[in-house]
Amino acid sequence: MFNVRRWAAWLYGLLLSLLALGVAGCGRTPTQSILNPASDPAARVTGLTWFLVILLGLIFLITLALLGFALFLRPPDRGDGSFFTTTRFVVISGILIPAAILFILLVASLNTTVALTPPETDLTVRVIGRQFWWEVHYPDLGITLANEIQIPTGRPVRLELTSGDVIHSFWVPRLNGKMDLIPGHENQFWIAAERPGTYRGKCAEFCGVQHAKMAFWVVALPPEQFEAWVADARRPRPEALAPQLAEGRKVFFRAGCDTCHAIRGTRAQGKRGPNLTHLGGRLSLGAGTIPNNTGNLQGWISNPQAIKPGNLMPRVYVAPKDLHALAAYLESLK
Ligand code: CUA
Repeated sequence: MFNVRRWAAWLYGLLLSLLALGVAGCGRTPTQSILNPASDPAARVTGLTWFLVILLGLIFLITLALLGFALFLRPPDRGDGSFFTTTRFVVISGILIPAAILFILLVASLNTTVALTPPETDLTVRVIGRQFWWEVHYPDLGITLANEIQIPTGRPVRLELTSGDVIHSFWVPRLNGKMDLIPGHENQFWIAAERPGTYRGKCAEFCGVQHAKMAFWVVALPPEQFEAWVADARRPRPEALAPQLAEGRKVFFRAGCDTCHAIRGTRAQGKRGPNLTHLGGRLSLGAGTIPNNTGNLQGWISNPQAIKPGNLMPRVYVAPKDLHALAAYLESLK
């Protein structure tokens, strides 16, 4: 027999579990949390989030209370014409109240959307999503990076977003909301940072086996430090290198690394993989997968598929002594 009380207890348990899960998910991770905004647009998104959580949470609790009342407390209906059996009750609670709530949500969302309109700015960064990394260009500055975006604080940055293969999504939770990167189409977006810091970003659209390891960093520098970084990134690279580094550069070409990778100031012009001109200065390797240090770099070159299975870098054999020289050379690229 259908037991209303047992069914209701199950439903109650399920709803309360959902509530507990929701609360448990509200962590405050320092580098990548929507609850810890570091810019005006992100703060507006966070504000809207809290508004929705609180309003909808209240509605959820009221609904639970009414459900509990209907299931456990209210006497069976005997057709005595109480308020809960009238058409008026249906119109008020089923049409008018939901319509008013939806209207409030609409106004709050539109309000935030309007506030997120990109402001005027003279700094543009072009980001191309790739399986499974980020190609980063500064078209007006002639700088190319990968998996890292340097920006000045207190100045909005215009983003041109597109993709070289499948749909990805650009998301730095502390700096703004999300925006898709679509092949053959350019989306306009923007970020800004109020304080200097290192903000983690993440691909937010499933794009293949290593979607989870498609992260990047936005490094916000005070304006004068940013200008210094720009000048340094654009300086000509030296032709002559110390013997070990020169040897490493030879290994780079001998092993065919230049087929996929470019290094400014050399004849390496490969476009399939990340530009390595500033590799030594990066915070991580493999698009946020492992910290950037000599051991990890050697491990990555030896067997990238062991660290990030399914990425597009093939395993290339490099003899151990060549590996040391190659890693030293790549680490010297800042
Ligand atoms: Cu790129 Cu998920």
